[in-house]
Amino acid sequence: MQIHVLGSAAGGGFPQWNCGCPNCAGVRAGTIAALPRKQASVAVSDSEGHWFLIHAAPEISAQLAAFPPLHPRVQSRAVRDSPLAGIILTNADLDQCLGLLSLRESQPLHLYATESIRQAVTQENRFYRALDRVPGQITWHELKLYGTQTLFTPDQRSTQLIVTTIPVAGKVPLYLEGQVEPESGDNVALLVRESSGGPSLGYAPSVGARDPEIERIVERSDCLFFDGTFWSDDELTALGIGTKMASDMAHWPLGGANGSLSMLAQSSSRRILIHINNTNPILRDDSAERRHVEQAGVEVAYDGMEIAL
Ligand code: MLT
Ligand code: MN
Ligand code: ZN
Repeated sequence: MQIHVLGSAAGGGFPQWNCGCPNCAGVRAGTIAALPRKQASVAVSDSEGHWFLIHAAPEISAQLAAFPPLHPRVQSRAVRDSPLAGIILTNADLDQCLGLLSLRESQPLHLYATESIRQAVTQENRFYRALDRVPGQITWHELKLYGTQTLFTPDQRSTQLIVTTIPVAGKVPLYLEGQVEPESGDNVALLVRESSGGPSLGYAPSVGARDPEIERIVERSDCLFFDGTFWSDDELTALGIGTKMASDMAHWPLGGANGSLSMLAQSSSRRILIHINNTNPILRDDSAERRHVEQAGVEVAYDGMEIAL
């Protein structure tokens, strides 16, 4: 399995267009040791070169342009072509699915999501109609909780990849708060592996709290991408940004005695933080918090990171 990180930042990206926090101002001015990052998305392929995205970030056009394996194939007889076989969604937050609307040029697309995520994207959403203009434009595959789903090629043949879907603590997207009843399919983590066996990729970019499910995912992943949104619970309020704590946003912070880093430190598999908010001090290569992460044996994802599993 090949994994390519197309984006590693949380909603807003890094720097964020309207943010003058020390990280955003510093990376804009080039005065801190930190790389800019696009919003989180990874590309995964099986050993036969079938590519899938986990999430469709708002910057998807630039992310696809920057990654030649996802360009139209020169050997294709069709003028319109994409090696992209499908897109998997782990929640319906806009930073994770707004890019779908940039893929409306009638390329058949297979989308994999739980029923509640599918409904969030399709119901009462006139923009979605741009993706549903011609028969066969979008094919949805339901990811059932605790179920295992084969990923398909655009012409419905099985690829080598299979995905197990596990609910984790989360919340409905901001635009649906107060509009729908929360349910367990709103936010999930994934385990991806080749059907022939071999190593498992874990993908859990939004984890609201520690629970036995998340511990199981950490245990079962040979390589795990994990929620790196916030270092501390009061990260935003301490900077004078809004009133929300990390926990109000269903992101378990990394730092402190009860932080997620203490759990991740106990695992010996490869662990990589992703969906990193622009306020997070781990974005600075030379911060004390980055040192804590590295001492725990945990990595910080960056755009363009490549992994062969
Ligand atoms: C989150 O990760 O908490 C959401 O992306 C927030 C948002 O939708 O802006
Ligand atoms: Mn997000
Ligand atoms: Zn910022």
